[in-house]
Amino acid sequence: ACSRLVLGIESSCDETGAAVLDETGLILGESLHSQKEVHLRTGGIIPTVAQQLHRDNIERVVQEALERSGVDPGKLSAVATTVKPGLGLSLGVGLEFSQRFVRQHGKPFIPIHHMEAHALTVRMLQPVAFPFLVLLVSGGHSLLAVARGVDDFVLLGHTLDEAPGDTLDKVARRLSLTKHPQCSTLSGGQAIELLAKDGDRKRFSFRTPMGQTYDCCFSFAGLRNNITMTIMKEEEKEGIKQGTLLSSVNDIAAATQHTVACHLAKRTHRAILFCKANGMLPSSSPTLVLSGGVASNQYIRKALTVISELTGLHLLCPPAKFCTDNGVMIAWNGVERLREGKGILPPNVDVCYEPK
Ligand code: KG4
Ligand code: ZN
Repeated sequence: ACSRLVLGIESSCDETGAAVLDETGLILGESLHSQKEVHLRTGGIIPTVAQQLHRDNIERVVQEALERSGVDPGKLSAVATTVKPGLGLSLGVGLEFSQRFVRQHGKPFIPIHHMEAHALTVRMLQPVAFPFLVLLVSGGHSLLAVARGVDDFVLLGHTLDEAPGDTLDKVARRLSLTKHPQCSTLSGGQAIELLAKDGDRKRFSFRTPMGQTYDCCFSFAGLRNNITMTIMKEEEKEGIKQGTLLSSVNDIAAATQHTVACHLAKRTHRAILFCKANGMLPSSSPTLVLSGGVASNQYIRKALTVISELTGLHLLCPPAKFCTDNGVMIAWNGVERLREGKGILPPNVDVCYEPK
């Protein structure tokens, strides 16, 4: 058979990823370089550092994906690359590389919206028909949308300040969790999930954000402020300085995770009721897709399972490696667009990236 082949390239944040997929979603070759350890050490992403790491790795990552697939660049049907949203300096590296590549090999170019790619990934793994509801939660994003088609999304809610993964990372940093023997190499979200397992969430109670706001947006900055105040009080009680591990760290982690889960579940519940009231989802077996780095949190997943069961939705959550940034999801979005002939550009068109 002569299935069409797509090379996907991702560099919007802190992962340099590439993959070659055939039209059915079979992954022929992939490669991923993560900068997460570097950024963990500096306590956050420094854009120029991220840019340099993408530059250092993009050529090798793309070569590896191609070699592993055994596909000659001449045999590709198109190249798909993330052009928005993300860090401008990071996006630029992947885009410049791709533009040179498509010109050199005379291939069509498919600019990809990173969030569209996250939302569609589930369809590579199993048949999920449009429309479906999607909740994307990671370090950089937080949104609720109805996916009505490959390039047709209705945005129901977004974060008004920061994304939940960002909040968890900042709380973890404030608690100095990298000093905890079990957490030295974990992301903030992973550290909080692990410590929360041995914590009593009821020892602290944080108000769930936006209880009186009648939309589907999110807000985490106020919650983070409450958590920080609590941490300061605890430090005073224990007579220790910032930077020292609190004895109540497990309980604070558990209460933090619980409140983030409640907020996500409540906003999603509102979105489901809104969709139902407006006939925006199919009446038989409607689906909620949960994705993004924060989706690997089992406690948060459980909260969304409860909401889904309550409202009769079927919850789907791709395995962790497909929830976080990678080249595969970009290649898959390329396949979906190629199939429908949407947004495919000739090799010589100049494309700009858009951070927002
Ligand atoms: O999707 P991702 O790899 O990168 C982007 O942000 O785009 O997500 C990373 C985020 C980080 O903020 C990290 O703390 C969070 O996802 N995360 C988690 C867990 N694993 C990663 N948050 C909660 N629980 C987890 N198990
Ligand atoms: Zn992402």
